[in-house]
Amino acid sequence: MKYFLRCSLFFCLALSSLCFSKSSTENIPKLRRSAVLEKMSPKGLLVLQTTASGYRFGFNFRPDSDLYYLTGLADEDLTLILSKTGIPNTGAGVNNIHSILLTPPPVGLSIDRDEYFARLADSLGFDYCASVIELRKILKQISDIDVFYNNLIRQDQQLGNSIIEKRLIQFIQQFPQVSFTPIIQLTGSMRRIKTSEEIALIQKAVDITIQAHQEAFKSMRPGLYEYQIEAIIEFIFKFNGAEQLAFPTIIGAGPNSLILHYEQGMRQIQRNDIVVMDIGCEYQHYCADITRTIPATGKFTLEQKEIYNIVLEANQTIIAMLKPGVTMAQMDSAARAIIGKYGYEKYIRHGCTHYLGLDVHDVGNTREPLQPGCVVTVEPGIYISPKSDLPEAYWNIGVRIEDDVLITETGSQVLSAALPKTIAEIEQIMQSEGITDLITK
Ligand code: GLY
Ligand code: MN
Ligand code: MN
Repeated sequence: MKYFLRCSLFFCLALSSLCFSKSSTENIPKLRRSAVLEKMSPKGLLVLQTTASGYRFGFNFRPDSDLYYLTGLADEDLTLILSKTGIPNTGAGVNNIHSILLTPPPVGLSIDRDEYFARLADSLGFDYCASVIELRKILKQISDIDVFYNNLIRQDQQLGNSIIEKRLIQFIQQFPQVSFTPIIQLTGSMRRIKTSEEIALIQKAVDITIQAHQEAFKSMRPGLYEYQIEAIIEFIFKFNGAEQLAFPTIIGAGPNSLILHYEQGMRQIQRNDIVVMDIGCEYQHYCADITRTIPATGKFTLEQKEIYNIVLEANQTIIAMLKPGVTMAQMDSAARAIIGKYGYEKYIRHGCTHYLGLDVHDVGNTREPLQPGCVVTVEPGIYISPKSDLPEAYWNIGVRIEDDVLITETGSQVLSAALPKTIAEIEQIMQSEGITDLITK
């Protein structure tokens, strides 16, 4: 709870510096909530709660992305309620309520509880704040809904796990005609276009991830285990204040370079291995996602060079075409055309892009042409398995090169441009001493 107050205070302070606020009393999550309320169906009700899946990858608690987006709060045990028609009366003298935040009151509160919640509502821009024990009373006030927007229960679920889920299900069963709509129908198009503040946080996550890659380049050598490289990377993340991983760290050497979401990290790295390092931290809730592929010894073999340069050409060609109006399908076709030109099309195993933001695979319509403010990855890859009919020297070469790119008014800006990716640059930086050299001397 101490964290809650710190977080709220930080948030209120942060608001005054947001450049697109109309006045210092406006806050961004409140504006987002208003935009969502506008889009809701005439009798729509939205309920978002902290989810158990908020605990991500063994790091600290991580809030649900939409809940964070609409509240600016990263605490546990929050419930956000938005009502399009307005809830008539909470019984506490507050009428026609469209936005509610339920949260446990702090332990050892020195002021009256109602006073605390009234001040909280005022500072965070909610119509009403209360303890979660008010939920039943609030729901009783709602006599009709047409669409239910929620992140916990789906239309086909009969029983939820928590008391709150059970209560919500009981409540919803009163309205047999209600339809369930995923929350991203309301937030997807907003979250797809990042504000300058969001871009700055993604850039910070990218910068930390770049430093982690550079340390991994310098530390890489045959004989190390994949998990040792992972340890160096995650040390750099934590050292720089990144509170989470954006996704489980992927360090895949040799045959593991072919496994797209390889997480085990138990292989001892061999001399001829090529190593895919697909990593990203999360900084103040925003993700980075950058891949580099490097040779264990610091020198690419001829076959590794050939494949690497094809993937690099695809990566650079796609980046060069990025501007408003381009589609993700066009990006994928461009990757296929380049890789196909060299005869390796059948070794493509995945699409070459996704949105990046609060989630590593961020929300947003993937068919809509890109617009200024979209942040996307560019990640072509070639993966040659041992069953391939190519000569054995090509087997177990998996190469992926992934950058994070902002679409601007006139073109694009590569947020991860500072991280080397040509063969000459990588071989050069790999000659430097790394953390493993220091700690194993
Ligand atoms: N690291 C996951 C991805 O590149 O999509
Ligand atoms: Mn990645
Ligand atoms: Mn990616």
